[in-house]
Amino acid sequence: MFKKIISVALVAFALSAEVLADEGMWLPALISQRIGDMQAKGFKLTAEDIYSVNQASLKDAVVLFGSGCTGELISGEGLLVTNHHCGYSQIQKHSSVEHDYLRDGFWAMTRSEELPNPGLTVKFLERMEDVTDLIVNKGYTAEQLVNDAVGGVNGRKAQVESIFYGNQYYLFVFREYRDVRLVGAPPSSIGKFGGDTDNWMWPRHTGDFSMFRIYADKDNNPADYSADNVPYTPRKYFRISRAGVKEGDFTFIYGCPGSTREYIHSEGVRYISEVSDPAKVGLRTLRLDIMKKYMDSSQQVRIQYSSKAASVSNAWKKWQGEAMGIDKNMVVDRKRGYEQRFREWAKGTEYDGVVDSLGALYAELEPYNLMKEYYQETAYTVEIASFANRYLKADSVQRNAVRESFYKDYYQPIDKECFIAMMGAFDRQAKGSLRPEYLDRQLAEYGSIEAWAEAVFGDSLNIAYEFYSEFMNWYREDVLPQITRINGEIESLYKVYMRGQMAFEPERTFYPDANLTLRVAYGKVQGYEPSDGVYYYPNSTLRGVMEKDNPEIFDYNIPQVLRDIYAQGGYEDTPVCFLATNHTTGGNSGSPVINADGDLIGINFDRVWEGTMSDIAFDPRICRNISLDIRYLLFVVEKVGGASHLLEEMTFAN
Ligand code: ARG
Repeated sequence: MFKKIISVALVAFALSAEVLADEGMWLPALISQRIGDMQAKGFKLTAEDIYSVNQASLKDAVVLFGSGCTGELISGEGLLVTNHHCGYSQIQKHSSVEHDYLRDGFWAMTRSEELPNPGLTVKFLERMEDVTDLIVNKGYTAEQLVNDAVGGVNGRKAQVESIFYGNQYYLFVFREYRDVRLVGAPPSSIGKFGGDTDNWMWPRHTGDFSMFRIYADKDNNPADYSADNVPYTPRKYFRISRAGVKEGDFTFIYGCPGSTREYIHSEGVRYISEVSDPAKVGLRTLRLDIMKKYMDSSQQVRIQYSSKAASVSNAWKKWQGEAMGIDKNMVVDRKRGYEQRFREWAKGTEYDGVVDSLGALYAELEPYNLMKEYYQETAYTVEIASFANRYLKADSVQRNAVRESFYKDYYQPIDKECFIAMMGAFDRQAKGSLRPEYLDRQLAEYGSIEAWAEAVFGDSLNIAYEFYSEFMNWYREDVLPQITRINGEIESLYKVYMRGQMAFEPERTFYPDANLTLRVAYGKVQGYEPSDGVYYYPNSTLRGVMEKDNPEIFDYNIPQVLRDIYAQGGYEDTPVCFLATNHTTGGNSGSPVINADGDLIGINFDRVWEGTMSDIAFDPRICRNISLDIRYLLFVVEKVGGASHLLEEMTFAN
């Protein structure tokens, strides 16, 4: 291929200047390092407005929602917004055949109609503190620091996280509220509009939001659900801007990105893009094709498998974009070029040899890692097997419930066909010492995978259970210990290599990989060129929703009420979504998208698939996050939900 013969040095040169623009997930407590750049790009507030321990700041309006999303406060009475896909399981739990809130949406018309969600929590960051010195030099343990910080305060939580591969430690102190009620959600045909078809893609027209309210005791402290609780009064909430969002506008995102690996070795990147992603995509393609075949021919099966297929397809699509983006951007070659320069520089220092040792460890890890991923994508996905395990381990009281909830959404022909396809793929992959003996015993006994499937899916659950536990034991004994050992060595070398990278480029400001702690990313509203000759504009409108509308296609069948509103005329240009260059990842779902004045302009919910390699290498030319335009939320709440009382408690900047 042409691009492979471009010299590495040339590539590195061409990209180095550009690559840093808009890249980064910065620690709020250190935002003073970036505030000059932010202000130069248009931001009008100060570092103290973003993060302050002593006075109310924007951080006080942002929460970790549940265990893996972000949410933000938009009223003085505890009203919070996040994504529809973040509130999905709560909306689903309150739904029944009589009240199908997933299908029809839900709007609490009074406070007393707001629905409690036992187990759902939100966490505010109270403060973060560099505790490296305490841990490294003063002999404190993480546990001591956490205990001291919590000090028995109701709702206070703390954790110590290492950043830069154990080179620094931060203590994060949170306040967790545990009475969080559902206030509103649009019908899924708005909140999930476009479904898996449009997921990770632009142009996008998804109204991906839901609304909750935090409740507290009479003193504004965290409390278990009680009818006596009152709406929480936040230290800070976002004003909403209706002024519009246009190409070039400064934007900044405050949220909880989950996991990125920006500083890894070229061999780690090569494994992801050339081995792991393609293997996992191939296996999931087989499963998705099987699911789709049955879902297309039965409405009932479609309902049973839509959420399962959605979760299989979400990462499937992301991995395709990630592998493609790494390849197209020659990330492996660029990393190799960087490593070569590092190697030269490191000669005779404590960093000498670290790059090569890491390369060797990755080579050792690869066969085990690949087997682990094959196991996770094949044997481990057989539904009847994990059900057999859960069922046989449940006590007699729980068993009925376990069985009912499993069979409600189970269609055996899908599971059986997937079993045959997955075990076929596993059989072709597993060789030598990494091949479970059990597999050969079964193939000898039954003669073929098809005949083996008849037994696994027979009347008794025993063979399915045996399958589950034999594979699990093999994985735990033959695969996992090796991975744990090699990864341990890799991690300790990364600690050295990371320090080395910082010494190698002393003028560069490094940001730590994402770890689900609060971060700031900033950039601007901007379209992109997905391929030669094609430009995507950064804004979408209701006109595009209507262009996609099709009652025959599940993902594009909008509610009739939206058609009726549109037919009245004048709503064509209602904004729906927009693109920006903010560096985000999974966990940033629901994050506030903020303008130069600090006002809320959108809610982050996705990225474009061509740019999902940003978890490994951010390229400002193609990496874009996708946000809901806050004005679409206002439109849906008022016009579709008829819940304009909710707008009355918001504060508008304009
Ligand atoms: N891609 C987004 C994320 O990673 C949205 C996923 C939910 N939507 C869906 N159609 N599956 O979380």
